[in-house]
Amino acid sequence: MKGSREKKRNTVSRRRLVASVIIVTALIVMLFLLVFSMLMGSLETPPRKYAQRIENIGRLSTSERSFLTGEKENSTETADSEKSDSDKVDRSDPYLIIVNRTHELSKDYVPKGLQAVKRHADRTSDETAQLRKKAAEAFDDLTADAQKDGAEIVLTTGYRSYRTQKGLYCYYVSRYGKKKADRMSAAPGTSEHQTGLACDTSSPEVNYELTQKYAATKAGKWLQKNSYKYGFIIRFPQGKEDVTGYEYEPWHIRYVGKKAAKVIFDKKITLEEYLEED
Ligand code: DAL
Ligand code: ZN
Repeated sequence: MKGSREKKRNTVSRRRLVASVIIVTALIVMLFLLVFSMLMGSLETPPRKYAQRIENIGRLSTSERSFLTGEKENSTETADSEKSDSDKVDRSDPYLIIVNRTHELSKDYVPKGLQAVKRHADRTSDETAQLRKKAAEAFDDLTADAQKDGAEIVLTTGYRSYRTQKGLYCYYVSRYGKKKADRMSAAPGTSEHQTGLACDTSSPEVNYELTQKYAATKAGKWLQKNSYKYGFIIRFPQGKEDVTGYEYEPWHIRYVGKKAAKVIFDKKITLEEYLEED
């Protein structure tokens, strides 16, 4: 009798022990789950200041990002992706408009926002003393800085309407014949002077004429060396006649904006070649 009571008590205390172990284990598991879910929740919806920091990290350079996050920098990938971004040609940029024998303007096209430049030749008309606002301002900066360096550069013609270009082209054809004229002057509708972004320039050193001798003058040399800093390119360079279709014109500069002008200058290419690049 005594033995059977003892046995019962032992069984009850064993059951209590097992129950306690189960309860403690369950509590530990619940506690673990609670902490885990709290941690996950805080990662999904970070407080604003951390979210901001994460967004900003996305804008950093790879070196800065790896410095801040401790991630390893992949230098080859970095160089390639950064290069392709900065060198990308923005074909939607209105200042990169291409006008040539295969890209014509309609005879009614007149650019918006034309304004007169400050330094132009006496013979320049009210119409041709103008450029589009951004190009005119850049040209004014260019001529003012050239003057400080002792190089006098003036505009001889900037914007030319379809009608003005027609008169000029007809004059060249009558004087030199069509074949030669086509290498010197653009037929109406195919001249970028109609965009208000092109300028023919000259200086007193060549009596304000458009001549290849200009390339050897102080003004011409200054232009070759510095025009890209103001967003202009020498549009018809020497040795590129097969690409542009025109003889070397050291006097003709074209506004394309500073970014494109620097690439074109550094690579010694034409606008056509720049726009063909990926
Ligand atoms: N002389 C350049 C090609 C023009 O007429 O536009
Ligand atoms: Zn020109």
